[in-house]
Amino acid sequence: MRKINVAVVGATGAVGTQMINMLTETSLPINQIKFLASKRSAGKTIAFKGQEFTIEELVPESFEGVDLALFSAGGGISEKFAPEAVKRGAIVVDNTSHFRMQEGVPLVVPEVNPEALKTHQGIIANPNCSTIQMMVALEPIRQAYGLKRIIVSTYQAVSGAGNLAMDELKQQTQAFLDGVPKDEIPANILPAGGDKKHYPLAFNALPQIDVFAEEGYTYEEWKMVNETKKIMEDSQIKVSATCVRIPVLTGHSESIYIETEKPATVSEVQEILTNAAGVTLEDDPSQQIYPQALNSVGSKSTFVGRIRKDLDEEKGIHMWVVSDNLLKGAAWNSVQIAEKMFEMDLLGK
Ligand code: A2P
Repeated sequence: MRKINVAVVGATGAVGTQMINMLTETSLPINQIKFLASKRSAGKTIAFKGQEFTIEELVPESFEGVDLALFSAGGGISEKFAPEAVKRGAIVVDNTSHFRMQEGVPLVVPEVNPEALKTHQGIIANPNCSTIQMMVALEPIRQAYGLKRIIVSTYQAVSGAGNLAMDELKQQTQAFLDGVPKDEIPANILPAGGDKKHYPLAFNALPQIDVFAEEGYTYEEWKMVNETKKIMEDSQIKVSATCVRIPVLTGHSESIYIETEKPATVSEVQEILTNAAGVTLEDDPSQQIYPQALNSVGSKSTFVGRIRKDLDEEKGIHMWVVSDNLLKGAAWNSVQIAEKMFEMDLLGK
């Protein structure tokens, strides 16, 4: 039986930690595994399946003999080191946005477009966390009724911005509860590490994720637009996004409005989603059942509820879609891509 050697890049990070969790329960036959991070972490240890592993500093030679490299250490690290991994024969599944829109790089949600994996040239991109859960929920509806338009507003958790941002939210929350005046609350990371101003997230909602780009939209919003068109292979589909950071640790929520080609009833959509891969329907207003960020934590599923017809538009449907952004939005989707590639005989030859 084929066995594969795996490297996790960014093994100490918020996503990297979850990648390791996902690898403990993967169906992939792992031969060797190594954990890579910055010089700061080199020498520390990580437990994996009851064994202690020493974290190594990431260098180009780290990838000698590696079949699969899972990257989640920031776009700059992927830009520099993913080609080094490919050069040494590894397949890279990259969780950053760096390669996503490049031609020849499949952008894959395994429930939606696994066939795209066949076109890879060494690097496969994992889509943006908010895009992934939206694709899982909408693709089954698109298959049945066609999809003309998507308008989405996100309510995104802070873990998407990494461990330091999570720590900062906890400190800010405590500072607020301790009565520290608003202007003295420490804020150094959000809304975007690379931007000029920083605001507290605790008890707040920030309508900016990543920096601003064209037409008044942020990069996060453009990611949702462009990635949707690439994954669905439909340049005509209309997509518009508003991305908002809220003080939730883990679990992205999305309010999604769609217009289908053919009209669909609520019960038809519910039935389609009940049978859809990767989806859990939680939709019973009479019992106050709907997806909640807190309940999504630790699950690989995408939860859908609050499905209702638009009051004016015959082909318009609203829904609420929630998923663990570190799992389906990142670590699980990456490991699932690797499992799919192994299944398709594209990995570990
Ligand atoms: P380290 O912990 O050694 O800094 P997060 O997304 O939670 O912010 O985590 C970022 C991840 O990227 C961490 O594992 C971090 O490792 C890793 N990382 C940051 N800079 C580098 C680098 N220069 N080389 C390798 N890994 C890095």
